Amino acid sequence: MQITVVEHPLIKHKLSKMRDVQTTSRDFREWLDEIAMLMTYEVTRDLELDAVPVTTPICETTGYKLHNNIVVVPILRAGLGLLSGVLRMIPNAHVGHIGLYRDEETLEPHEYYCKIPPDKDPITIVVDPMLATGGSAAAAITMLKARGLQNIRFMCLVAAPEGVEVLNKAHPDVKVYTAALDEKLNEHGYIVPGLGDAGDRIFGTK
Ligand code: PRP
Ligand code: URA
Repeated sequence: MQITVVEHPLIKHKLSKMRDVQTTSRDFREWLDEIAMLMTYEVTRDLELDAVPVTTPICETTGYKLHNNIVVVPILRAGLGLLSGVLRMIPNAHVGHIGLYRDEETLEPHEYYCKIPPDKDPITIVVDPMLATGGSAAAAITMLKARGLQNIRFMCLVAAPEGVEVLNKAHPDVKVYTAALDEKLNEHGYIVPGLGDAGDRIFGTK
């Protein structure tokens, strides 16, 4: 499996609160936002930099700026819960949206929206809290590649081993980051122990 589990006590603490069935949507959203910020630090750790001249009040020196534009792509709807945390760390990023929903019977992803900014050769960070069967993430990345994007990373909160395998196989070039690698999927395609339906918990729809 090619996956980075972003290990940090603050992430473990917040994610455990989010897993709790008693947690309200308000708290769930807040912790998701905070974890997104912490994970962005790790997901962007190896970004390329260009040296730039800087004049401090004291002298000339060398500073740095990101070499590539960054595009963040939340998979609707639950991916929206990670967006603001990522943008607070990378405020100049542009944002694309991919609309996918998972058929509850077949578990197959269905596309309903796609709008991607026209940046040239960006680093693209696809965000979605849940990587379950891997169908939605793999389909989203296929859609991005069909539009010419190449340097893609995938960031989620909770991953199932089954989904990581599907995603690695479909897109071996894509680096996958998660806050937790859980045990398995249940017979309904939900992650165990997981946190339930992320979209419903973010938006209070159930
Ligand atoms: C959830 C989740 C992922 C997908 C993961 O979205 O946010 O997009 O399921 O499952 P998979 O790995 O088996 O494809 P859902 O389809 O429930 O839509 P929503 O975000 O609108 O709630
Ligand atoms: N989608 C979710 O929101 N949760 C799961 O456990 C699986 C798919």
